[in-house]
Amino acid sequence: MQAVKGTRDILPQDTPQWRAVERMFHDICARFAYEEIRIPTFEYTEVFQRGVGETTDIVQKEMYTFEDRGGRSLTLRPEATAGVVRAFVEHGMGSLAFPVRLQYRISSFRAENVQSGRYREFFQLGVEAFGSEGPEIDAEQILLVQLFLERLGLTGFRAHVSSIGCKECRAEYHKLLKEYLEPHLDELCDDCQRRFHTNPLRILDCKEERCIKVTKDAPLMADHLDEDCEQHLHKVLDTLDRLEVPYLFDKRIVRGLDYYSRTVFEFILESEEGAQRGTLCGGGRYDHLVVQLGGPDVPGIGFSIGEDRLLMALEEQGIVLAEATGPRLFIVTMDEDGSKAAQEILWGLRQRGISAVQELTGRSFKAQMKQVNRSGAAYSLVLGDDELKTRRAKLRNLRDRDAEDIEVSLDEMDELAHRLEA
Ligand code: HAM
Repeated sequence: MQAVKGTRDILPQDTPQWRAVERMFHDICARFAYEEIRIPTFEYTEVFQRGVGETTDIVQKEMYTFEDRGGRSLTLRPEATAGVVRAFVEHGMGSLAFPVRLQYRISSFRAENVQSGRYREFFQLGVEAFGSEGPEIDAEQILLVQLFLERLGLTGFRAHVSSIGCKECRAEYHKLLKEYLEPHLDELCDDCQRRFHTNPLRILDCKEERCIKVTKDAPLMADHLDEDCEQHLHKVLDTLDRLEVPYLFDKRIVRGLDYYSRTVFEFILESEEGAQRGTLCGGGRYDHLVVQLGGPDVPGIGFSIGEDRLLMALEEQGIVLAEATGPRLFIVTMDEDGSKAAQEILWGLRQRGISAVQELTGRSFKAQMKQVNRSGAAYSLVLGDDELKTRRAKLRNLRDRDAEDIEVSLDEMDELAHRLEA
């Protein structure tokens, strides 16, 4: 049997690196006062239809939707935002002190074409903040991602920032864009011909060669913002300028979800030549989503980082934050008496916070010594007849072969634990 296409196992040699990334994200978010929320893996399908938007690729083609035994339509979350907003509304968080800042780490599910960095189950680290119209909090979230990626030691990434305007100026812009595209309609791919009627903005994001050709000189939203949206974007960019955060004002950002308004941003990995090599993070403002999901009129903004892609980038850049380490102690035993003594020592050490193991598979002494080396343990201790009689044994340092053995008492657990501390 095999894991389902687009899903994968993350094995013990890799999980320390994932944990280190997650811990760093949690800590950096805490510096910005984001508190953790955990949401369900699946929701009523309507949450995503109304949240993510009927015209998006996600809702039209990529959701894992099924009926439960009661005939209700449920969907595995394709992203976090709609679920977090549903929770915000359901728990009346609109009455809390604003802004309400939430952070999360979730698995997401999308039935996409599987390729490098694109999975069907993937992980996202993200935040959502409610109750502030910005632009300060918009800049703050971009700073948060910047600080997080810097602290991981990652290089070669840049924030791309733009605005997709409000309902009013976007409606005006849609007219302009459609006027521009209309004469080229039959040059567009089938998907884009459909998008022309449902969401023309998304045509600018199509990866098909013929659509790229048509949209090369298309009018861009960021050039047609109304006065208020223009000011809003200006203040976000001004904050980044003042704090000397590198970014690109990228008028071609088109986010793939329907809920955005005004500020949108992505963090993109670039090769040395400046070519784009993948999006690590996407986010933006969604001032009407809470109302759309039945809540109060509260603005919101958030982002999600693709954890799988982030881990890939760290690996490519040779950045190791944490590795699997073996136990601090491996106890080798000769017989049942030795095994019982080992159990007592292990219990004492584990109560004192030390990771330690003993032989458990009935190996011969020679085979145990081999296992000691393979276990990655920092120290070994052999419990033979003499050791059991004298209640003293030699602690061997396995990571420093030149170090002398240290004689220890088998009855002084505090002292032994102290010696074994990392
Ligand atoms: P998104 O752009 O769809 O935004 O996804 C965010 C990030 O998740 C992407 O930049 C990418 O790194 C990662 N990602 C997306 N799809 C896959 C996949 N199939 N395999 C691996 N990684 C993937 C959102 O999900 C929004 N909810 C972000 C947001 C939060 N906006 C406001 N708040």
